Amino acid sequence: MTTLTPVLSAFWDEEDSYTLAGYQRNGGYKASAKALKMEPDDVINLVKESGLRGRGGAGFPTGTKWSFIPQGDNKEHYLVVNADESEPGTCKDMPLLMANPHSLIEGIIIASYAIRANHAFIYIRGEVVHVVRRLQQAIDDAYKAGLLGKDVKKGYDLELVLHVGAGAYICGEETALLDSLEGFRGQPRLRPPFPAIAGLYARPTVVNNVESIASVPAIIANGIEWFQKMGTEKSKGFTLYSLSGHVKNPGQFEAPLGITLRELLDMSGGMRKGHTLKFWTPGGSSTPLFTAEHLDVPLDYEGVSAAGSMLGTKALQIFDETTCVLRAVLRWTEFYKHESCGKCTPCREGTWWLVQAMKKLEAGEGTTEDLDKLIDLTNNIAGRSFCALADGAASPILSSMKYFRDEYQLHLDNGGCPFDPSASTLFKSTAGNE
Ligand SMILES: Cc1cc2nc3c(=O)[nH]c(=O)nc-3n(C[C@H](O)[C@H](O)[C@H](O)COP(=O)(O)O)c2cc1C
Ligand code: SF4
Repeated sequence: MTTLTPVLSAFWDEEDSYTLAGYQRNGGYKASAKALKMEPDDVINLVKESGLRGRGGAGFPTGTKWSFIPQGDNKEHYLVVNADESEPGTCKDMPLLMANPHSLIEGIIIASYAIRANHAFIYIRGEVVHVVRRLQQAIDDAYKAGLLGKDVKKGYDLELVLHVGAGAYICGEETALLDSLEGFRGQPRLRPPFPAIAGLYARPTVVNNVESIASVPAIIANGIEWFQKMGTEKSKGFTLYSLSGHVKNPGQFEAPLGITLRELLDMSGGMRKGHTLKFWTPGGSSTPLFTAEHLDVPLDYEGVSAAGSMLGTKALQIFDETTCVLRAVLRWTEFYKHESCGKCTPCREGTWWLVQAMKKLEAGEGTTEDLDKLIDLTNNIAGRSFCALADGAASPILSSMKYFRDEYQLHLDNGGCPFDPSASTLFKSTAGNE
């Protein structure tokens, strides 16, 4: 049985884990001191060899991304940390920043030095005022301690700016984030050029997720072998799994990549009493749904993808048999419609139509042909839009139709939602139940 591997979360229950003193007491800032004595290219190679992959969703190898920054080009380089975390269900970066903000700052020092950047930015979503305050305090403390600013290492300066966004999901998409950071409306950019060539202010830029960068100090401190002992062949190391929904003990569970939901549920107390698992998201609302038949899928990049979904942000939202899958999918669809940035037609118009279609079906209005129409409409949005937001909108619809078409049909047969307490017969879904 796989066990938990607390690294980023190791000291979260200590009262002062978020302070500089608390972080340093537990070995903090030793890794950055070590990295600053190395050659920048050696730091990049170490992170590359460790096998660390981006924790923001796509799982792109972090060291490889850093190595794309052209060296000796006499241009400013930038590191931008993506702390926009807005996907429904995704809730790992904010608790990490509340409990352990210095792990991110230390990771920023190491990453900036490695890619030869003298300016780093953290782009954080605007709604999380408490996190902004805590992170700003940590940055101020790091400046006061000489960990940031002039001569971080003799002759190497590093400025770190915390930029607060205005609360738009699309600003988590890395190129929309860069536009927003530059002061423009946040909308995705056409690629190429990729940020590594022309990112912030058209300069070579690395954009990484909070957890990706915060994981770096532990790798530098403990070495590649230590990191590679955790995880699976192509998905190395530890990561934060966020368990939410109809479970007894929701929260953050830091474990090796490749752990299964069954194991995580066993460790965390299972489903809420008297209820069974109906469906779940492996990585947030934009990743195709799974059911109880996927309880033993290894939660690493390859395992989840082979089973037809994506590891995404490892946001495990758990729903039991009392949930109407159409209602849950409708809520998510409304979110994507609201957050569509409007740049391209399939997503701007299509997500509006998806909401209309889902509302009708959830109310039990329509015919069986409307189910095929919904699939057709969704397939005309996914893969035909400018960025991945639209693919995310399609995922819950297509996957719920795959596993729960009977429930869609029952809404039509019933002339309304069978989960509505006023419905004459309450629907007991069989799909995916054990
Ligand atoms: C609509 C949309 C929203 C996104 N939101 C986030 C986010 O909040 N945080 C994040 O790290 N990545 C987000 N991403 C992924 C980023 O574009 C990017 O891939 C990521 O920040 C790269 O970091 P990583 O390589 O460390 O994973 C989003 C992508 C899309 C399409
Ligand atoms: S897919 Fe949606 S969010 Fe992305 S660019 Fe098009 S309209 Fe904007």
